[in-house]
Amino acid sequence: MLKLLEDFRSRFGSSARIYRAPGRVNLIGEHTDYNDGFVMPAAIEFYCWVAAAPRADRKLVIHSENYNETVEANLESIVTAGNRHWANYPLGVAQALQGGGKRLKGANLLIHGEVPLGAGLSSSAAIEVAVGFALLEQSGLATDRLELARLCQKAENEFVGARVGIMDQFVSCHGRAAHALVLDCRSLEYKLVKLPAGIQLVICNTMVKHEIGGGEYNRRRAECEEGVRKLQTVLPHIRALRDVTIAQLEEHRGLLAPKVYSRCRHVVTENDRVQSAVRAFESGDIRALGPLLGESHRSLRDDYDVSCRELDTMVDIAGAQRGVIGARMTGGGFGGCTINLVEAGAVEGFKKSVAAEYRSRTGLQPEIYVSPASNGAQEVEVIPDSGAS
Ligand code: GLA
Repeated sequence: MLKLLEDFRSRFGSSARIYRAPGRVNLIGEHTDYNDGFVMPAAIEFYCWVAAAPRADRKLVIHSENYNETVEANLESIVTAGNRHWANYPLGVAQALQGGGKRLKGANLLIHGEVPLGAGLSSSAAIEVAVGFALLEQSGLATDRLELARLCQKAENEFVGARVGIMDQFVSCHGRAAHALVLDCRSLEYKLVKLPAGIQLVICNTMVKHEIGGGEYNRRRAECEEGVRKLQTVLPHIRALRDVTIAQLEEHRGLLAPKVYSRCRHVVTENDRVQSAVRAFESGDIRALGPLLGESHRSLRDDYDVSCRELDTMVDIAGAQRGVIGARMTGGGFGGCTINLVEAGAVEGFKKSVAAEYRSRTGLQPEIYVSPASNGAQEVEVIPDSGAS
């Protein structure tokens, strides 16, 4: 990251401190976070990096290396940078932090994101959390990670306009090397599960992102909310699909439109699968994860209808490879990536044959990433003589 410091100096004429926050991959528990349910993500070794130094005034000057563009804002009156503009993420976070009572100081920021964009690996949470962390530290304010995650989610909900759940921001703040997090999205309590040493997280990027994704995401949320409203007429104690058992859902199926029933069934069964996956990790019964990941994928494909041909093809190919414990789509869906649990010794062969077969079946060249689980947001010491890069 010496390069980022050098770039910062030539652009802003001063030294800087460096912060980073990771993207994530979700092992299981998809579309459950906004239903008060359970998720099991891990932070990955792809980061958004932010170099930052204070300013004497109350301006933010933010340059993105990815977009080669600079945006300025006045902390007294932050306004949107325009529809779908990258700067809405950092600006939204500044706004949310101030709205949360944090008095920020002016700062120059240089941003370099290395989480693949639009791949379902949470490049947006990474930029939000990295910028939020940097702004708090630069302003001399204590960083409460839970509060930071909540405010970053608020920024994305209200400033960017995507009704995402808390999973991505939470794991970008709380990730732990070599571990996945099991998060209860209602209480926001979490525990760590150790990932077995002989298993690697292999992420296959389909290289497609279907445009319908954003609108469909909000529509799925609305369908879940409709399910809750209907079920509340007979189950007044429920607050979210988290509170519904599969037996209750079947009993009252008649109250729900068929599509809404299917959406609810995905969420209810997926929450159960997360609990089963936790037991599998904790008891060391790694093989049990295979069927759970497979059922999760089918449920997302058939009941929740958020998969696509390319994701199904990628999962199908992975399932036939040697040394694969399990495979499924990961993240919001409609393209993006799959997560594959692969025995360490089989990873090289897996990469080669999955890439070749995916190419021949779709005409697309996939990207395949192998990433250990990483730590959440942090400041990074750059020691000029160490040869760190
Ligand atoms: C996106 C959202 C998350 C979560 C997933 C689906 O990544 O940002 O909050 O809802 O989709 O599990």
